[in-house]
Amino acid sequence: MTAFRCSAPGRVNLIGEHTDYTGGFVMPVAVQFATTARISSAADGMYRFASDQFDTIRVMAPEDRSPRKGEWSDYPVGVLREFQELGICPSPFDLTVNGNVPLGAGLSSSASIEVATAMALLAYCGKSMGPGEIARLCQRAENRYVGSPCGIMDQSIAVSALAGKALLLNTRDLSFELLPLDRGNLAESRIVVANSGVKHSIAGGDYGLRRREVEAGQAIVRQRFPQLRDLGDATLEQLEQCRSEMSVESFKRCRHIITENARVARAKAAMLAGDPVQLGTVLTAAHASERDDFECSVEEVDFLVATAAQLDGCYGARLTGGGFGGCTVNLVSAGKAEAFGAALKEAYRQRYQLEAEIYVCEAVDGAIARNLAIMTSAEKGIATC
Ligand code: GLA
Repeated sequence: MTAFRCSAPGRVNLIGEHTDYTGGFVMPVAVQFATTARISSAADGMYRFASDQFDTIRVMAPEDRSPRKGEWSDYPVGVLREFQELGICPSPFDLTVNGNVPLGAGLSSSASIEVATAMALLAYCGKSMGPGEIARLCQRAENRYVGSPCGIMDQSIAVSALAGKALLLNTRDLSFELLPLDRGNLAESRIVVANSGVKHSIAGGDYGLRRREVEAGQAIVRQRFPQLRDLGDATLEQLEQCRSEMSVESFKRCRHIITENARVARAKAAMLAGDPVQLGTVLTAAHASERDDFECSVEEVDFLVATAAQLDGCYGARLTGGGFGGCTVNLVSAGKAEAFGAALKEAYRQRYQLEAEIYVCEAVDGAIARNLAIMTSAEKGIATC
């Protein structure tokens, strides 16, 4: 029996939020949570999608082109659809997806399922694709089949991450640099994620609304300055000149995007200088922009960020991911990370009677690096990637 097992990680975004559908910059890090997709040939002529994490099992014939069901299996089925669109029609299979990426927390459980599935299907079909192609295929699966208007960040990091590095991605052309997380004093700091427990879903309406507000503003900027490809190239002065032509909302959303791109550049400089103080300051400034200009934060998350800023050893904190709930990312002095997490948890409990989960993160490999490492040591009968 042919069987393959492939995994892809979740991620936390250090900085560069909502810039990934405007040709901007993002800086995510893959974290220790991952999804594994195991695929094996099926004797009954059907495609079968199962998971220990979710109750439903989906069985479909290879010619089935039914629409999404509004459940977890839409993610792997969406990826299968994109393979079929490319003329790659796998023979019948059983696919089992399992993982520990917290769901609905803004840590990219969706992209990890998509990318793990895509890797498993590639292995199963004996095909290969470049990293950008895999990321774009998974993004299309989510945009077209699942119906979430996400950008390209989450799929890119799940594919291309390298342990110990942050991925500085230019979302216009998917070119990237891998930035060290252990330069200078940064080596003595940790990325600590706090999960507010307030559920976030990018399939929900808020993300799509923000995206439309940004795109409406971007269209006006482009009209006035035809030489600009997108907001990734625009300056605040140019945006200001378009102010009267756009809604207050679009103006603020676009201002966030433009200032956020500048903050990513500052974050890169701080990382290369190995300076956690400077990096933390940029993170905290990014939160203010998410809260005030992009308006994608919620009270509980603002509380976590404000509390973190007061705690010993914290260099900076902000909302990470799509927003409207989800997680904060905190840069914390390594020796203080544990006490920081405990204090933050306690403050949150007292204020909201809610349990925040705290994850001290490791920067891990993405799907391609996992694949390469394991292809050389394929186990009996089961190739793992
Ligand atoms: C979600 C989307 C990403 C990105 C972030 C916000 O995670 O999937 O494409 O837009 O929100 O930065």
